[in-house]
Amino acid sequence: MDHWSRSAVIYQVYPRSYKATSGSVGDLPGITAKLDYIAQLGVDALWLSPFYRSPQKDAGYDVADFRDVDPLFGTLEDMDALIARADKLGLKVIIDIVPNHTSDQHVWFQEALNSEPGSRARERYWFRDGRGDGGELPPTDWESVFGGPAWTRVPDGQWYLHLFDASQPDLNWENPEVREEFESILRFWLDRGVSGFRVDVAHGLMKDPDLPDWHHKSWMVSGQDETEAPPAPMWDLDTVHDIYRDWRKVLDEYDAMMCAEAWVMDDERRSLYVRADEFDQCFNFSFLSSPWTASDMQATIRSSYEANARVSATTSWVLSNHDVVRLPSRMGLAKTGKGPNGIYAHDPQPDHDLGLRRSRAAHLLMLALPGSAYLYNGEELGLPEHTTLPDKARQDPTFYRTKGGEGGRDGCRIPLPWVSDKPYAGFSPDGSWLPQPDGWADFAVDRQENDPNSYLNFTRTALAYRAKYDLGRQEIRDESGDGVLDYRVGPLRMIVSFDEETVVPEGWRVLLASSPVDDVIGTDTTVWLTAEPQA
Ligand code: NOJ
Repeated sequence: MDHWSRSAVIYQVYPRSYKATSGSVGDLPGITAKLDYIAQLGVDALWLSPFYRSPQKDAGYDVADFRDVDPLFGTLEDMDALIARADKLGLKVIIDIVPNHTSDQHVWFQEALNSEPGSRARERYWFRDGRGDGGELPPTDWESVFGGPAWTRVPDGQWYLHLFDASQPDLNWENPEVREEFESILRFWLDRGVSGFRVDVAHGLMKDPDLPDWHHKSWMVSGQDETEAPPAPMWDLDTVHDIYRDWRKVLDEYDAMMCAEAWVMDDERRSLYVRADEFDQCFNFSFLSSPWTASDMQATIRSSYEANARVSATTSWVLSNHDVVRLPSRMGLAKTGKGPNGIYAHDPQPDHDLGLRRSRAAHLLMLALPGSAYLYNGEELGLPEHTTLPDKARQDPTFYRTKGGEGGRDGCRIPLPWVSDKPYAGFSPDGSWLPQPDGWADFAVDRQENDPNSYLNFTRTALAYRAKYDLGRQEIRDESGDGVLDYRVGPLRMIVSFDEETVVPEGWRVLLASSPVDDVIGTDTTVWLTAEPQA
């Protein structure tokens, strides 16, 4: 039998926004209380974004202690309880590991700040002298992904590298001590019972040690935007793979998995991460970024399968996460694809109904594709982006570091609505760390439970059929014509119509449709068809 991760559906839980038992930030006991709900969705596993001890400068991706839970989220015992309950429900738990950087409050970085240039403590990070007569210029011209320079100067005149916020200094993975530390962190969590890791910025750990200049913008999720740019000295270096070959050996002792977050848009380069002795999965961000047209989607799907088949890996489909505009809103913009980094109230607003229709169609497409698939919490509710957040409520460092040039990712991180007639839509009795938009309660789980046509029940039905027909493990055959995708997936047939209508083919019956269908499949609609007679 294949490893479970090759065809799994994994549900991303963003702890800050899932469910708070008190206060205004979600917590681990809140997640544990909702594990039954997660199991009932029909997913195989959950992936938790960081809950480690952290000053929360980048919503927990700035880790001060990789072996402890931040008091904001609970305790290590709460995490043990979460894992135990998930296990009872047959759910695996995947956690986020953030090896590219630490928080500036991590003991290692504090020690580095208090140590001499050239010291062992500084060698764990990228400290360098500056350029210019007095060393007043940064060592390279690199820009942080979050905007602004990627170097910050310390009082003794040296500079340290941070590809993200200044509070997230990059670790030096040339240093064996860093490698040993992370293998020990992996074991710490594997011994506590997690089934694997989602590896943050997996393609960024190695840097060209000559530190050449490279004045180009790096984009989160979809990688560098300039096809003309020379290879980046900090992204996707060949040497990064050695790290994961070492990790693979550790994981194999526990039969655990790992998934790479690597913003590598070239399918061939991306497939290198899922060679047999490295990752089990790598997010398919080409799929997430693909414009909603038949030709773009078909080309992306085909080339993803071809590239991964060469290394005998399956593909990990993804449409949303905590870094991109929520799907129904992205799909309702004039230009579909990866979308902007946040939407302001003064920006053109998404067409809500169109976005929702396309989002359902895209979900049904994704969930029939063999391989594994990810769902970001709230995706099952059809949650839109908060597109009118007041600036004073924004917390994403990209908003501040770009001086408002980019709205940032807060709009996709709004706390979830559970109960329509409770304060904060049932997220917490005491508040919500980001304000929920008007009408949020309309999306609440309790309302959707009782509506057979709700997004929630649609998702559950799709996942149930996916399991029944074992779609994640089937072969796929492409029989598409112009403007319409037409795939055979095992015993089922899937048709996706974009801007053309198409007739339900003779001999086939609609099993599930993303929008109502009689004998014509309307635009922006996906159907799953069966040749089985009605029972
Ligand atoms: C990718 C994470 O998904 C994102 O949220 C975070 O800001 C960066 N990595 C830096 O850790």
